[in-house]
Amino acid sequence: MKEKLEQIKAEALAQIESSGALERLNEIRVNYLGKKGELTQVLKGMKDVAPEERPKVGQMVNDARAVIEARLEEMRAGLAARAREEQLKSEVIDVTLPAKKLTVGHRHPNTVALEEVERIFVGMGYEVVEGPEVEYDYYNFQALNIPEGHPARDEQDTFYINDRIVLRSQTSSVQVRVMENQKPPIRILAPGRVFRSDEVDATHSPSFHQVEGLVIDKNITFADLKGTLGQMAKELFGEETKVKFRPHHFPFTEPSAEMDVSCFKCGGRGCRFCKGSGWIEILGCGMVHPNVLRMSGINPEEYSGFAFGMGLERIALLKYEIDDMRLLYENDERFLKQF
Ligand code: DAH
Repeated sequence: MKEKLEQIKAEALAQIESSGALERLNEIRVNYLGKKGELTQVLKGMKDVAPEERPKVGQMVNDARAVIEARLEEMRAGLAARAREEQLKSEVIDVTLPAKKLTVGHRHPNTVALEEVERIFVGMGYEVVEGPEVEYDYYNFQALNIPEGHPARDEQDTFYINDRIVLRSQTSSVQVRVMENQKPPIRILAPGRVFRSDEVDATHSPSFHQVEGLVIDKNITFADLKGTLGQMAKELFGEETKVKFRPHHFPFTEPSAEMDVSCFKCGGRGCRFCKGSGWIEILGCGMVHPNVLRMSGINPEEYSGFAFGMGLERIALLKYEIDDMRLLYENDERFLKQF
């Protein structure tokens, strides 16, 4: 019995020495110390041992077990340490590798122009508001004094969701929404995206942006309109800038006008930029039509107001002397980087 135990112990220790891997150690543990392992078998054979010998044999089995366990643990710790060392070596981080370059984006010329316009009007006490791009025909046309069948609808043909809902063709729709919800005095600026069924070319796009302005209060006159927009032109295009109003027609204003600014390239003498005229058209404006006030619940006997609307792209193109609107939408970094 004693020899048998010695032999098992020697075998187990030899196998542990040559194991070389953690998984193999586990196998050895099971083979020798497990429920069906060799040492356990010896204990099961105790019944054949003389009773007085049993404690001694039991002691020997336990000693062998302790020796094997201790050696297994030593070996395990050694192998684990080596494995960890190798892992650390293989996962070394090369701190000399150059980092990925962070590219910081640019503000779009439209955004720069809009922020400039907003700054000017917020400085004059205006509030910036927004309205929906998908809009009721009512707000986009009817409430702006453009009933069904009105010829002005042709100029602003847009995309129809259904009979009553369109993609708004002008930010003027926001005027109505504000007047319905707010009591005068009203001073708002409403920038946003608008849509028309236009073909794409250097000056047209089916989707572009406008900035709308509306002022309603007691005793607002055309002089207020002229003073406000004249000031805006100076801040936007330079202190020397003059403005000129040409009579025009918009269904929602009366009287209506288009405003030109003196060419900031040639100072008004006439150049290629202003096509020799000395003037550049930048917006439509007028005194809010009494019908529009009335439809939105404002008494035209008590209140009056002015409104204006301009194309944001047009301002951006002028400010940066860009000659093709399509450049604004292509998202070419080489173009956008310049602003
Ligand atoms: N909504 C007009 C357009 O898209 C521009 C405009 C003209 C807006 C006169 C106004 C205005 O508020 O008073 O052509």
